Amino acid sequence: MQIVAPLEIEDYVIQTADFMSPPRWHLGHTSWFFETVLQSYQPGYKVYSDEFLFYFNSYYEGFGPRMERAKRGTRSRPTVRETVAYRKRIDALMLEFLDSLPDHGNAETVLSLVRLGLEHEMQHQELLVYDIKHLLCDQFDAPMKPAPAPSVKVGGMAEIEGGLFWLGCGIQGSYRTASGSEWVSSEARDQPPRYRSGFSNSNHDFAFDNEKPAHQVFLQDFAIDRAPVSNGDFLEFIRAGGYQNFRWWFSEGWETVTREHWQAPSYWELRDGEWMIRDFNGLHPATSRADEPVSHVSYYEASAFAKWAGKRLPTEAEWERAACLAANENARQSFPWGNEAVDSLKANLFENGLWSVAPVGAFPEGQNAYGCHQMIGDVWEWTTSDYVPYPGFRSEFEEYNDKWFVNQKVLRGGSFATPQLHIRSTYRNFFHPHERWMVAGFRCAKDV
Ligand SMILES: [Fe+2]
Repeated sequence: MQIVAPLEIEDYVIQTADFMSPPRWHLGHTSWFFETVLQSYQPGYKVYSDEFLFYFNSYYEGFGPRMERAKRGTRSRPTVRETVAYRKRIDALMLEFLDSLPDHGNAETVLSLVRLGLEHEMQHQELLVYDIKHLLCDQFDAPMKPAPAPSVKVGGMAEIEGGLFWLGCGIQGSYRTASGSEWVSSEARDQPPRYRSGFSNSNHDFAFDNEKPAHQVFLQDFAIDRAPVSNGDFLEFIRAGGYQNFRWWFSEGWETVTREHWQAPSYWELRDGEWMIRDFNGLHPATSRADEPVSHVSYYEASAFAKWAGKRLPTEAEWERAACLAANENARQSFPWGNEAVDSLKANLFENGLWSVAPVGAFPEGQNAYGCHQMIGDVWEWTTSDYVPYPGFRSEFEEYNDKWFVNQKVLRGGSFATPQLHIRSTYRNFFHPHERWMVAGFRCAKDV
């Protein structure tokens, strides 16, 4: 509700592209998620409104019919006032329900769903930022803090030794059994329990099912950029004719460039021959933002740049190894800086209040032992890895992560729009390779 506070009433209902959702929809949808918990576990619960159930369902086949995403902006009802009233009512009912939980036979199951609901809401907070940017960009009048200045110069690549590496999150969770109705702790099952200790303390002991189980992968030695690719770097690619030369592009990427007439990342505008970047703060010459991480690029653009630069994108295992590597090479830690929780000196996340990327070198406290900066925060980083289940994957919630295991790429690390509580080094975000309305950038890797 704080994120949407600066909006005018008209802003809540407009849909500016079929991939975004009107802000009002996010407000209702996140409460709709909690209402499904009440429907399932509150005895005698009566639904708030069948119309709301229809409008605020996103993609869950299991919860009945729904409105297509592209049409969310074709309706003025439920109104904003009704949606906010719905939120308040569901919040109140959830609080009452949680108070009654000690007497509830399914308390553990309900609590794991509530936790999922809170993580889901944090995901939508971030999507709301993307959607407000698409809707209003620099017309959005929120209090924004200035970005910190870079305090160190960051460059070059860190060479990292390969070998066997434990990829993913070692913490256990509960999951739904094949029968679909019962929730059990996976500790009750004979999952391989001997994950190496010391790396289960991710963000407050929660991880999505798609980050589990931890499993060994073999990595060759590799090098990874110490900094995300910057606007300045990317401008060189543009000036070198990168968007006009098929040789840097995947066939699908080249088709997209040609069809969509891409000449630069999303939110870049050509004014009198000069590339400008529009963000929440206004329109700026790209050269004045040269040291900021490039954002709003697709997987195709990231891959084309990497090829042009004589490098490649990292795999998600390479990225995670770099993000979790302690100075003592074989120790694994939760974050690049160690095991302490995220704070606003270590990474640029939503609580920093910048509503923007920060210059490379502005968060020296967040670097890893090899001098890799800003792996957490600023921009989600594309990897070459396909978004597929890890070996031994068990779905903990139907239709949440498992139904998306096809045709998408994994991104890591979180962005300036990600809540601090929500990010982990093992977090696997995923988008289609052509998408670029989200805050996505990249860093390159290469073989050594
Ligand atoms: Fe959702």
